[in-house]
Amino acid sequence: MLFQGNLLGLVLLGAYVVAASPGFYPWETPQSPVFSDQKPIIPAPVLLLNNGSQAQNLHLSSLQEDGFAALSHPRFPNHRVRVKKSNFCDPTVNVYTGYLDVDAGAKHMFFYFFESRRNPEKDDVMMWINGGPGCSSSMGLLMELGPCSIDMNKISDNGTVWNPHSWNSEANIFFLDQPVGVGFSYADFGETVETTEEAAKNIHAFITIFFETFKQFSGRALHLSGESYGGRYLPVFASEIFDQNQVALQEGRSTLNLQSVLIGNGITDISTLYQGRYEVECSTASLDIPYQSISNCVRMKTALPRCQREMQRSCIDQFDAIDCRAAVNFCDSELSTAMWATGRNVYDISKPCIGELCYAENNVITAYLDLPQTRELLGVEISSNFSACSNAVGRGFNAHMDKWAVHTQDYVANLLDRGIRVLIYAGTYDWQCNWVANKLWVDKLGWSGKTQYAEQQWRDWSAGGSKAGEVKETPLLTFVTIRGAGHMVPHDKPVESLAMVSRWLARQPM
Ligand SMILES: *[C@@H]1O[C@H](CO)[C@@H](O)[C@H](O)[C@H]1NC(C)=O
Ligand SMILES: *[C@@H]1O[C@H](CO)[C@@H](O)[C@H](O)[C@H]1NC(C)=O
Ligand SMILES: *[C@@H]1O[C@H](CO)[C@@H](O)[C@H](O)[C@H]1NC(C)=O
Repeated sequence: MLFQGNLLGLVLLGAYVVAASPGFYPWETPQSPVFSDQKPIIPAPVLLLNNGSQAQNLHLSSLQEDGFAALSHPRFPNHRVRVKKSNFCDPTVNVYTGYLDVDAGAKHMFFYFFESRRNPEKDDVMMWINGGPGCSSSMGLLMELGPCSIDMNKISDNGTVWNPHSWNSEANIFFLDQPVGVGFSYADFGETVETTEEAAKNIHAFITIFFETFKQFSGRALHLSGESYGGRYLPVFASEIFDQNQVALQEGRSTLNLQSVLIGNGITDISTLYQGRYEVECSTASLDIPYQSISNCVRMKTALPRCQREMQRSCIDQFDAIDCRAAVNFCDSELSTAMWATGRNVYDISKPCIGELCYAENNVITAYLDLPQTRELLGVEISSNFSACSNAVGRGFNAHMDKWAVHTQDYVANLLDRGIRVLIYAGTYDWQCNWVANKLWVDKLGWSGKTQYAEQQWRDWSAGGSKAGEVKETPLLTFVTIRGAGHMVPHDKPVESLAMVSRWLARQPM
């Protein structure tokens, strides 16, 4: 644990250096403590425009395209938002990009914000994040649910094509590169974030400042969405928001109107992962005929109980980093090797794996985000090449065994017990974070509505006039499958995924 100790020392040192350099961040003013028995005076945010003048009561649309306007808020002296209007991706709505500077200005988190195509003044606000850990949300934006998609057929002269099935059809949506080190987000002094619980603090700061600064969205219903490692991130982020809301209430501050969490093909409860993978390969859970060879299926079935037992003992009952890693290595070697050998796309078993991360879009998006004109359009501040997923961030999380060390499903149960709605959806062709593993953990999740959920029947749901998948729903917890979609559901089934999100936001049954 020497490594970890040193790392902590470094982070603390970084914070000290910043705090001890008066004038380093001149927009900051010392803050007097707020006591809960006093009625606090809510200060107004200050907008510093490019031309040096100040403004208050901002409306996003008053911003300019040439360079960032800096927004500071007296209540959050450690944070600052820099935002610009951008002619990027969706000409039918107002688009903004920018950085939120957190932790005394040392960490810079990049975001894209798109107003809703329907009614930006009334529609809910949604956040989307990709997983990894370490993958940029611009991948989700440009190949899944964003207002535009990367142009794969060279038909557009601006590099993207308009996406009629974007999730901003009915919601204001922002895409966030997090934690620092991912996509266009960066840190000044090499600070890193290496656990989900740590990342949650920056997420809470980001969203709080966002709503405090752009008053027209204050109080608006908020939904956190994402996929893959988002199954680990989002329950923790939502819980941080919920808990911080209670602190804000005590101090007489406004709260975030967190309504729901949407997780697509997530990794949440690790205990069912390998059983799910076995079923996808060796049963008819995904395809009508199992695609794995009989001999491999027999071998996998033999190894599964030992894999489960060792994981239960070393990862779940009592986490032990060394033993848990050994258990996971055993599970991977016995239960994952055969899949990788098939050459199938682990995110979509119906397709071959082509190129980096198995999708042809990956390289095209990377090249597009490296173009000087794209970077100028977005206001990107880093000069290094874009990378869809950061290996350094992935390694940092892995060093802490972030995926295995915490019972993330307990965050989900606690959120449900406090009235936060949760949508778990899964494309059935994914192997990596497959639908069976998700169904298994949701079925056994211990929360106040467990019996009610168990009593519901599975039924078909439709979109665009045909069957889209199956659904099981209660007022708070809904599980949806999307038949024939892989890991990236909106990429494979755009009509179905928009229909699902639309009904979820409208609180209609699927
Ligand atoms: C700065 O820009 C704002 C918004 O464009 C404008 O209203 C204001 O008059 C400008 N101030 C100066 C000093 O030019
Ligand atoms: C880029 O070009 C495509 C195709 O010509 C068009 O649909 C889209 O609206 C354009 N995007 C922007 C931001 O102008
Ligand atoms: C960035 O990408 C360009 C084009 O692919 C390449 O020539 C250059 O070496 C890369 N730079 C770095 C720092 O990797």
